[in-house]
Amino acid sequence: MNQEDKFKNVISHAKEYGFVFPSSEIYDGLSAVYDYGQLGAELKKNIRDHWWKNMVQMHENIVGIDAAIFMHPTTWKASGHVDAFNDPLIDNKDSKKRYRADVLIEDHIAKIESKIDKEVTKAEKRFGESFDPVMYKETNPRVKGYVDRIKVIEERMKRCLEAEDLEDLKQLIIDEEIVDPISGSRNWTDVRQFNLMFSTEMGSTAEGASKIYLRPETAQGIFVNFLNVQKTGRMKIPFGIAQTGKAFRNEIVARQFIFRMREFEQMEMQFFVKPGTEMEWYAYWKNERMQWHLDLGMPEESYRFHDHIKLAHYANAAADIEFKFPFGFKELEGIHSRTDFDLKQHEEHSGKKLQYFDPEENKNYVPYVVETSIGLDRMFLAILSQAYEEEKLEDGTERTVLRIPAKLAPYKVAILPLLKKDGLPDKAREVINGLKGAFMCQYDEKDAIGRRYRRQDAIGTPYAVTIDHQTLEDDTVTIRERDTMEQKRVHIKELSGILHENIGA
Ligand code: GAP
Repeated sequence: MNQEDKFKNVISHAKEYGFVFPSSEIYDGLSAVYDYGQLGAELKKNIRDHWWKNMVQMHENIVGIDAAIFMHPTTWKASGHVDAFNDPLIDNKDSKKRYRADVLIEDHIAKIESKIDKEVTKAEKRFGESFDPVMYKETNPRVKGYVDRIKVIEERMKRCLEAEDLEDLKQLIIDEEIVDPISGSRNWTDVRQFNLMFSTEMGSTAEGASKIYLRPETAQGIFVNFLNVQKTGRMKIPFGIAQTGKAFRNEIVARQFIFRMREFEQMEMQFFVKPGTEMEWYAYWKNERMQWHLDLGMPEESYRFHDHIKLAHYANAAADIEFKFPFGFKELEGIHSRTDFDLKQHEEHSGKKLQYFDPEENKNYVPYVVETSIGLDRMFLAILSQAYEEEKLEDGTERTVLRIPAKLAPYKVAILPLLKKDGLPDKAREVINGLKGAFMCQYDEKDAIGRRYRRQDAIGTPYAVTIDHQTLEDDTVTIRERDTMEQKRVHIKELSGILHENIGA
């Protein structure tokens, strides 16, 4: 199955089993807005809880807050979002489709990169074991031509974005002969800036109402509370403040299912450090966050770092953790060294000091900040697309299985009475009652046992426990493991221990 088909299947599977629905579907949905169903809400909650546990519970010097979505409008003036949270937008006059100019150029670069990959793979086959891909890229004239061309395009794009030279950004699209992916046309409008923040009004009368924004990131709720938390929590630098919550962006190009949404959830942590130590902490958090993903059992080859070419207005270093989604490597998480930009801006706009008294240095300063920021919905998509597998079994049959990391799975265990009679359902209820205080359990008595196993595989339940006639005699059950499909007979008393040990929640 190719990746495009796989992605389509992941989306329809997510809907069919109650993970993700289009928002207000009975009215034909709302573009780039989604609802999480009964299983999606569980998976999302488990990802969020796992992140919170890792960041807050496991770090004595990180605490969590829950700031409001609405903030004083000056917050967004201070943070730079009113003036600079823009995307360069371009329309194709023939297809009437709207694009981000920088994304069109990045997609064009990705096409050139795939030409390089093809050449390298071909040469690898030709030269065998002695092949050195690095040397090949530096010396093969055709490949070197591609590499040099990418460098020129990237540098020009960087200059255009930094200088806000929208005319030359359009010229770059024309010079590179970039066509509309839908119509194949090169009939482009000029490039214009488009602010991504949603606004609304607070107050009941037109005269008294004031324009406010739906937060485009959760981070500012942390910055404005920096001193509240530091003082009340008696926090000593270095320390972090974590937060999860909704953010809103009027994305120009919202596509790829829940990858780019207009309403989404972030899990962010701002780590406040002594000025001058920020690069050390930046390297530390890059490594820590990558390890968090790998510790979930996600494959190393599905991840890579991408250092930013264009730094956001607040950063002096930034990298993405990219994940190999079915549509290619894309940003999953950002690690940013945000300097003292935000706190200083808030000091200036509020007239209040946001400084830390360092008892070791015996002086006040505005701390520097290293941020880790991950989209919860993107992590959900990464987990789901990695987990989804259509597996051919030895007996020639097929099953669809979600190999979701056990600690994140919506249900941890299914309890299945073999038959709907002979007292087996009552015994099954007894087993569920003993487990449900600690684990999300699902009871299922409908259909043949094989079909019930398939249903649990399809929603990623790591364990299924079957209650049969022998259970009534000796209190033993069979426990089946989702990935290996192996079954073993154990005593009911052992179940809780087995689940605790293997799920590690
Ligand atoms: N506070 C920094 C910040 O917001 P960002 O790179 O703009 O940085 C951080 O966003 C993360 O939020 C991204 O890595 C991504 O996972 C997620 N994210 C951003 N825009 C999103 C969108 N429109 N839909 C879903 N997730 C999004």
